[in-house]
Amino acid sequence: MITDEALIRMAFEAGKQAYAPYSHFPVGAALLCSDGTVFTGCNVENAAFGAGICAERTALAKAVSEGHRSFLRLAVAVDSREYCTPCGICRQMLFEFAPNLELLCARAGHTFVRYSLNQLLPHGFGSATLDTGTQPD
Ligand code: THU
Repeated sequence: MITDEALIRMAFEAGKQAYAPYSHFPVGAALLCSDGTVFTGCNVENAAFGAGICAERTALAKAVSEGHRSFLRLAVAVDSREYCTPCGICRQMLFEFAPNLELLCARAGHTFVRYSLNQLLPHGFGSATLDTGTQPD
């Protein structure tokens, strides 16, 4: 299985493809599937600002659209002094498939902090909650 450092390198590499002319904040992501496959992604912005997508969701959508739904680890890489943790929308999207996902948030120099998605999205909303909803008669 790929090392943390190698996954982070892949995330940095993916960040080079970022389309971020508005924020000037390129982000790369590398998502490790249970079978060892890695899907990468970058942020893709748009002149209609709200239409952009984060690196994490790009990687997740690529993986799911290729038939992968089981994930172990996600590296998020920014060439910045601060670590970058996934935004709220990305946390929610990732929670759907991997509530215990391991996150590696890397900054310039490839130093990183490790989190579990559960830590970043405690008491997350998921399909289990939907299943316990009351049904109309
Ligand atoms: N962004 C990501 O791609 N991932 C994150 O974890 C945080 C933010 C992107 C969205 C936008 O293109 C830019 O970074 C600035 O918010």
